Amino acid sequence: MRLQGKTAVITGASTGIGRASALRFAQEGARLVLADVQDAEGEALAQAIARSGGTACFVRADVSRRADNERMIDACVERYGRLDILFCNAGINLPKPLVDSSDDDIDGLLAVNVRGPLYAARHAIPIMLEQPEGGVLLFTASKTGLVAQTDSPVYCASKGAVVLLAKALALDYATRGIRVNALCPGIIDTPMLRRFADAMPDPAAAWTEYRVAQPMGRLGTPEECAAAALWLVSPEAGFVTGVALPVDGGFTAM
Ligand SMILES: NC(=O)c1ccc[n+]([C@@H]2O[C@H](COP(=O)([O-])OP(=O)(O)OC[C@H]3O[C@@H](n4cnc5c(N)ncnc54)[C@H](O)[C@@H]3O)[C@@H](O)[C@H]2O)c1
Repeated sequence: MRLQGKTAVITGASTGIGRASALRFAQEGARLVLADVQDAEGEALAQAIARSGGTACFVRADVSRRADNERMIDACVERYGRLDILFCNAGINLPKPLVDSSDDDIDGLLAVNVRGPLYAARHAIPIMLEQPEGGVLLFTASKTGLVAQTDSPVYCASKGAVVLLAKALALDYATRGIRVNALCPGIIDTPMLRRFADAMPDPAAAWTEYRVAQPMGRLGTPEECAAAALWLVSPEAGFVTGVALPVDGGFTAM
């Protein structure tokens, strides 16, 4: 019960890494606000957590919208009385060369992947500063925030921004009780990756290619990301701030 008594907002909680993290945080005692644009999956997850003895509610929130970020955080404070953990995990991909990316593609991706965490953190920090125990911010970046990959320049730029956002906020609040870190998943078997592979001319071949490109010869799982996220937000990581932690099976070691 490493998060006993803690409250957390998780964005992008309906599927993939966010969903696995919600289940794990709930098992460890956290009371949760699950935020996402996929209502049915989010509601079902909140109910599943409640059935297994946890506490969670779903709030529909599009993280590209300032008001939605503020609403999900306020919901946590109103419902549970405090905000201990903000896990900005929602993200979208744009597997396109820059020259083929429209204004809407670029604005849409940056709105979710960069503006979302900025809006959420800006609203959460003053609340955490008011609490004697402070708080923890965690952003899902990516290995592509640390090393580049081909044909996804806007996505890489967005994840690089998230890594530096975590480091910059970590320094700004290091003496004021707020820790800030970034989680950098490698290639993880989630609905996002499945959609990405399905868009390839030969999805089965693309899937094999992802796997063999990994030092461990396999993809990561959402649960492995959730375990790392749990550690980063837990009191066990009390002296860890400003870190961009790869959970990538050794990919960025190459
Ligand atoms: N899967 C990978 O290989 C991988 C690798 C590195 C980083 N990531 C990052 O991990 C995070 C989670 O991705 P995932 O792989 O679990 O994908 P996913 O598609 O399974 O989950 C993303 C979730 O975010 C939600 N979402 C999308 N746009 C949103 C918005 N505007 N507002 C609120 N919620 C929104 C989706 O509905 C979904 O539930 C993302 O930030 C992604 O960039 C994934």
